Amino acid sequence: MDKSPATAAIKTIQQHILERQRLHHPEATGEFSWLLGAIALATKIIADQVRRAGLVDVLGSTGDINVQGEEVQILDVLANETIARCLGYHDNVGIMVSEEDDEPRILKESEKAEYIVLFDPVDGSSNVDVNVSIGTIFSILRRREGVAAGRVMDHILQPGHQQIAAGYVIYSSSTVMAYTTGDGVHMFTLDPAIGAYRLSREGVTMPPVGKTYSINQAYYNVFPDGVQKYLEWVKSDEAGGYGLRYIGSLVADFHRTLLKGGVFIYPPTRKAPEGKLRLLYEANPLGFIAEQAGGTATDGKQRILDKTPTALHERTPLVIGSKAEVDHVLSFWRP
Ligand code: AHG
Ligand code: MN
Ligand code: MN
Repeated sequence: MDKSPATAAIKTIQQHILERQRLHHPEATGEFSWLLGAIALATKIIADQVRRAGLVDVLGSTGDINVQGEEVQILDVLANETIARCLGYHDNVGIMVSEEDDEPRILKESEKAEYIVLFDPVDGSSNVDVNVSIGTIFSILRRREGVAAGRVMDHILQPGHQQIAAGYVIYSSSTVMAYTTGDGVHMFTLDPAIGAYRLSREGVTMPPVGKTYSINQAYYNVFPDGVQKYLEWVKSDEAGGYGLRYIGSLVADFHRTLLKGGVFIYPPTRKAPEGKLRLLYEANPLGFIAEQAGGTATDGKQRILDKTPTALHERTPLVIGSKAEVDHVLSFWRP
């Protein structure tokens, strides 16, 4: 952490990416750092809109229902279009997938457009109306080789361990971006004075244990038996004093879990037998980050990153966090 801002060197996200690339991928063309730069720019624009919520017209719902069957917030649409505009300038982004779009957007047809970027443009969007932390989540894949022309889904439906990068931004008391390219997790804080993301934590590690669990307890009656048993145990004397925190924005609940340890659980429910969260642009990117920080992510049956997606907006149960805490959940719940 930057202890003495007056004298400490200032490292922006762009400088950091270029530096790591030179170190680990000297053959890289720099294209990839441009792509992360475009994502950073989009999130700065979104952060600005979030900060002015209440002053400009970004609060509330559009009145539409998206492909997920959920109410679309005005900010969802603004953020989605902001991201599409920022990515559209880059020749190397071929396909954009978003929670807010029924179908993938083909930005560039050429093979040179090798990257596929998947987004949850605004995570926790219904929280924006009440000034609670929200976020943006992203995942980056590379086009597959040998796929026949026009078979767009074959490029997109790759298991999470194929991600070449993933990250999120949390719009909160400060705006923080975390990303990984498989070389640890690094965090940047948006400095509003200069409009740049500055390195604030390098090589973030998730505590291996943490006495916080995060779940929507109101669904207790519609959770599987095993999850109910875990919820009884976690409150018992034997468990030894856990606390419950649930913000209701995955990014925010995950960010806390990453820094403080603990476990976040979104199990299947009677109404949503596959859970609520989306594999491609929620569970996969956060799973990648959790693992890179020494934590773990599972759907109860298998590692999130090993799941082969079969649909764009596929949902998955998610148990993510400190290893020991995820194991506690699995010792009661084995679907
Ligand atoms: P989104 O706003 O992108 O649709 O995501 C909302 C998600 C996620 O952020 C959060 O963890 C979850 O919804 C909360 O769901 P419940 O209200 O069912 O607990
Ligand atoms: Mn979401
Ligand atoms: Mn969303």
